[in-house]
Amino acid sequence: MEGGWPTWGEFLLGFTVSFLLQGKTNSSTINCSGFDVSGVDPASFQVVFNRKDFPPVTNFSIPIRVNISFTLSAILDVDEQLQQLTSFLWLKMTWNNPYISWDPEECGGISKLSVTTEHLWLPDIFIVESTDVDQTPEGLSAYVAHNGRIVYRKPVRVISICKLDIFYFPFDQQNCTLTFSSFLYTVENMLLGMDKKVWEIADTSKDIIRTQGEWELLSISKATPKMSLGSSLFDQIMFYVAIRRKPGLYILNLLVPSGFLVAIDALSFYLPAENENRAPFKITLLLGYNVFLLMMNKLLPSSGTPLISVYFTLCLSLMVVSLLETIFISCLHHLANTQPPPMPPWLLSLLLSCTGLRKGCPTVLWKENVGPGLPNTQLPGLKELGERRANELGPGEVELNERSKLTSAQLVDLWVWFGNVVDTVLFRLYLLFLATSIITVLVLWNT
Ligand SMILES: *[C@@H]1O[C@H](CO)[C@@H](O)[C@H](O)[C@H]1NC(C)=O
Ligand SMILES: *[C@@H]1O[C@H](CO)[C@@H](O)[C@H](O)[C@H]1NC(C)=O
Ligand SMILES: *[C@@H]1O[C@H](CO)[C@@H](O)[C@H](O)[C@H]1NC(C)=O
Ligand SMILES: *[C@@H]1O[C@H](CO)[C@@H](O)[C@H](O)[C@H]1NC(C)=O
Repeated sequence: MEGGWPTWGEFLLGFTVSFLLQGKTNSSTINCSGFDVSGVDPASFQVVFNRKDFPPVTNFSIPIRVNISFTLSAILDVDEQLQQLTSFLWLKMTWNNPYISWDPEECGGISKLSVTTEHLWLPDIFIVESTDVDQTPEGLSAYVAHNGRIVYRKPVRVISICKLDIFYFPFDQQNCTLTFSSFLYTVENMLLGMDKKVWEIADTSKDIIRTQGEWELLSISKATPKMSLGSSLFDQIMFYVAIRRKPGLYILNLLVPSGFLVAIDALSFYLPAENENRAPFKITLLLGYNVFLLMMNKLLPSSGTPLISVYFTLCLSLMVVSLLETIFISCLHHLANTQPPPMPPWLLSLLLSCTGLRKGCPTVLWKENVGPGLPNTQLPGLKELGERRANELGPGEVELNERSKLTSAQLVDLWVWFGNVVDTVLFRLYLLFLATSIITVLVLWNT
């Protein structure tokens, strides 16, 4: 039988094999024979390249599904004035191209190839909040797998609009939204999906971002509401990126120096009020504080009114008030020592009613503020005043009875005493303010 006609059996076998091969060739659209020895034959991909102007679908009733994920690699800038967040993303998109398929076994085990993106159809995913046009570098490539899956990664610098609330500066947290959506394709033509779980995106981003900059990534969460524009519905994925400012720099450069200056100003109440040095000292401090504010102005957000500005204004006002008070007391001492004016009755009654709670004041008044040159005979009126107040007489009565009896020396003492009371009140106000601000800073820092 050698050299003769093929038998029916051989014919059947050959037909089956060729039919099987035929079937296989039909399912693979790329002829990759020789890829492993002579490199990629451009002609075999020409069919795919020719289709790049149209979305890779075989049935237009089925929307193309694009999966996206990203890694936030840097938070470059947060601009409070323009309300913008500048960040850097590595965006990854995956989709299927049914016109690409080959059998890796026939192709020397090649299961994926990189193809320059200018020859491929690319989904037009953009970020809705972005205020800048896409500046994707040219000449990027995408991985094309043997089953038609295309993986495309690109770096994106996003300048996005973000509603920034700087009230709690420098302890502020911001929640910015990055919405990925197609520019053109509605839900009938394109659906968006996720490549990874959102916590994976957050974790990878945190790992990469950790060492850098002023901002710390807190969390990333997502929502997938559809966006309707007119009659068309677009698929979109929203990512909420929560970031927090690291306050260390601002605490060291803003709060600590300011706190020191205020503390010194508060402590300067221990300089005797009648001493000439107190006013110049306070003026110097005020000057120092103004210089500090000028220098630190560029660290503050350039728009809005953060709490810290209110704090600085309060510090400044306290220093100004304490300087005014020092001037007032110096003036009072001068006046009291030359020609003491009569004390207005309301002031005296106010003083008596306010200081009546404190037992220390009258003895101080009686013992210390009496000049050495004063004869003792002038004192009983004052002493009596103290005693009467100790007996809790109504202030109005004291004032009516005693005012006429006050000698000029007692008037001097009363004025000095008044000065000291004002001094003490302001000092306590200072201490209260310091304590409140320290507690506020600690509470804000820990939340
Ligand atoms: C694939 O291409 C090679 C040459 O590049 C050719 O010999 C072979 O017949 C082609 N195979 C198919 C199934 O077209
Ligand atoms: C296209 O897809 C739709 C929906 O799945 C289906 O009803 C239709 O038969 C498909 N058309 C073809 C030609 O396969
Ligand atoms: C997209 O993601 C879904 C679910 O994670 C997965 O089933 C699908 O195969 C992915 N599609 C592509 C093209 O990667
Ligand atoms: C950010 O804002 C969105 C919507 O306003 C909210 O769902 C999300 O929980 C917020 N994220 C954080 C961390 O506050």
